[in-house]
Amino acid sequence: MVRNVAGLLPELEAEDFYLLSGVEQGMRFSEWVQREKLPKFASLSEEEVDYRLERCLKRGLIEKKTIQYEGYTLQFEGYDALALRALVEQDMISEFGSPLGVGKESDVYEVRSYKPLALKYHREGYTNFREVHKERDYTADKKHVSWMYTARKAAEREFGILEELYPDVAVPQPIGQNRHAIVMEKMDGVELSRTRLEDEQVLGVFDLLLSEITCAYTNGYVHADMSEYNVFVNEEGVTIFDWPQAVPTDHENADEFLRRDLRNVVGYFRRKYPQYVPDELESDELVESITADSFETVTEFV
Ligand SMILES: Nc1ncnc2c1ncn2[C@@H]1O[C@H](COP(=O)(O)OP(=O)(O)OP(=O)(O)O)[C@@H](O)[C@H]1O
Ligand SMILES: [Mg+2]
Repeated sequence: MVRNVAGLLPELEAEDFYLLSGVEQGMRFSEWVQREKLPKFASLSEEEVDYRLERCLKRGLIEKKTIQYEGYTLQFEGYDALALRALVEQDMISEFGSPLGVGKESDVYEVRSYKPLALKYHREGYTNFREVHKERDYTADKKHVSWMYTARKAAEREFGILEELYPDVAVPQPIGQNRHAIVMEKMDGVELSRTRLEDEQVLGVFDLLLSEITCAYTNGYVHADMSEYNVFVNEEGVTIFDWPQAVPTDHENADEFLRRDLRNVVGYFRRKYPQYVPDELESDELVESITADSFETVTEFV
């Protein structure tokens, strides 16, 4: 679990951030940045570097290791601090709030600027580096793949996809991105998995979800991690979130992913609300109606 660095921000000084960004720059070349290189990367004097290293080490923002040489590397906390400070300076965040969710590969917090927003720090590469490397082809072309690169790429991807889909598809409005962090609209409501829909709502919500999946497809994307955990429901409808792994519809496995997404959704409704899902409804037939952009309602399958 990565510690929340928001509380540290007021006590950090501009030079501490020079040091952190110096370490970040050095990490483009190697995971452990040599002490001797830091004055140049950080644009600080030797003495200043020592003083700032001490402060950042004490706060758990960087880590030190001495094997062949004295080296320093950013902790996720240090990377969070850099991203958070940049977003604050861009006026995207003015207040920091409580956690909204700790996912497998992210930490999400409530933040505020002119309205309630959500800040998602991507943590890909932190939990299980190997698996991420194998599954996510957007890192495949880099020889030295650090967790920092993996997490930043995931954030860039998610932000880019939200920008393409919003507002045609019901996704959180994207507000800003820096490094591995994205700021988006805070969704109201509750995860589909954590709610028990009223009888008369079931088919309506099911249809809404399928039509959003269709709309995303028409706009060029398959979510590829669709489940009751990545959908919010409220009185106004549904919102689909958590998009970093989405694939474009011209991806060779796009229809395969769509089929899996639909199996998850249909399977969930069938398990939780068996009396409402027509027996005749086959998720594979849904794939056809979605790819042909002819999906209308679940009941048309009866
Ligand atoms: N925009 C938002 N508004 C409110 N809550 C949010 C928002 N985005 C995410 N959350 C909360 O944070 C949790 C984790 O977010 P998300 O699913 O995007 O991350 P994740 O790490 O990819 O999750 P997982 O890997 O477990 O699917 C969500 O389940 C949700 O409860
Ligand atoms: Mg999720």
